[in-house]
Amino acid sequence: MDNISEIKKNIAEPWSHFEQLLSSTLESRSVLLNRINAYLFDTSGKQIRPLLAFVSAMAGSGVINEKTVACATASELIHTASLLHDDVVDNSEQRRGNKTVCKLFSPGASILIGDFWLTRALSLLLERQCPNEVLRCYAGTLEELAEGEMMQMDSADSLTTTEEDYFNIIQRKTGSLFVASVRCAAIVSGASPQIIQALTEYAHHLGISFQVRDDIIDYYPSSQTGKDSGCDIEERKITMPLLCAMGSAPSQEEDIRNIMSRIVPFPTNAEDERQNKILIERVQNFVYKYNGLELAKERLREILYAAKAALAPLCDSYYKEALFRIADSLLLA
Ligand code: FPP
Ligand code: MG
Repeated sequence: MDNISEIKKNIAEPWSHFEQLLSSTLESRSVLLNRINAYLFDTSGKQIRPLLAFVSAMAGSGVINEKTVACATASELIHTASLLHDDVVDNSEQRRGNKTVCKLFSPGASILIGDFWLTRALSLLLERQCPNEVLRCYAGTLEELAEGEMMQMDSADSLTTTEEDYFNIIQRKTGSLFVASVRCAAIVSGASPQIIQALTEYAHHLGISFQVRDDIIDYYPSSQTGKDSGCDIEERKITMPLLCAMGSAPSQEEDIRNIMSRIVPFPTNAEDERQNKILIERVQNFVYKYNGLELAKERLREILYAAKAALAPLCDSYYKEALFRIADSLLLA
């Protein structure tokens, strides 16, 4: 049994409440909406955000109540909504090895279903009378998700991304929802301010490392991952492995930002596709040559270490240990 399944077994009861609430809250009068929802349930991911909400609540206060379940469910709803929007933004064909709603149905359906999931999340928090602090936290996260994506678009245009820009983007587009999921669960479960702060810091580092890890894996050959390689480069995203390689390359080395600028995002003809392939390979080879993957993995290790260190104020328990194990499961050899 893997780490995540074993931890889920220890929160089996709230987990089944989460699953029931997720499905009942999304019932709709639209036949198409129900059909797409069924597809999304069949192709769902690991549901790491609700898992973190429950484990954090247990580690922080030993309590899971109706509001905790609402926060866990809202987090998963918002996450899926953001991916439905993201697949339109990125014009993605596949997610988790399955066709995206964007391609299988339409970009419009993907946006509208995302809106539905998003608004159900907010209604749920209101229906279960979550405190204003929680509503404010989720509202701030939604703002950050959209802002992070727009900052990423700015960067893809200008190609001037620095490490500071990169961290600003990933904190918003990924870190912010990890923070809301953990922080809000801790608040409604009655954890003390000191524990809420510790868990918030843990979630911040964990969220960032989650994105750094995803960005490293994008440089792995597809034979190793079963996913396309180099998607971020094609979207002109300057991520951790490339930033690390640029930092270690000698100054006379080829101008990699110039190469990136010649990539045509969303190519529509065979010639652009052929050119892109050559340019993507040049960027990948640059990253491999200047140790970008190893250096990025080292950064990932440091951020995960900071995540675990943030948990120092928490009492020892199975659930604190589980938070450590979740962090360790993100390490890359
Ligand atoms: C995946 O990143 C996408 C995100 C982490 C966030 C996407 C957010 C939006 C599109 C804004 C949505 C706004 C609201 C208010 C819901 P990625 O593209 O780097 O990774 P991928 O390979 O999983 O696509
Ligand atoms: Mg994407």
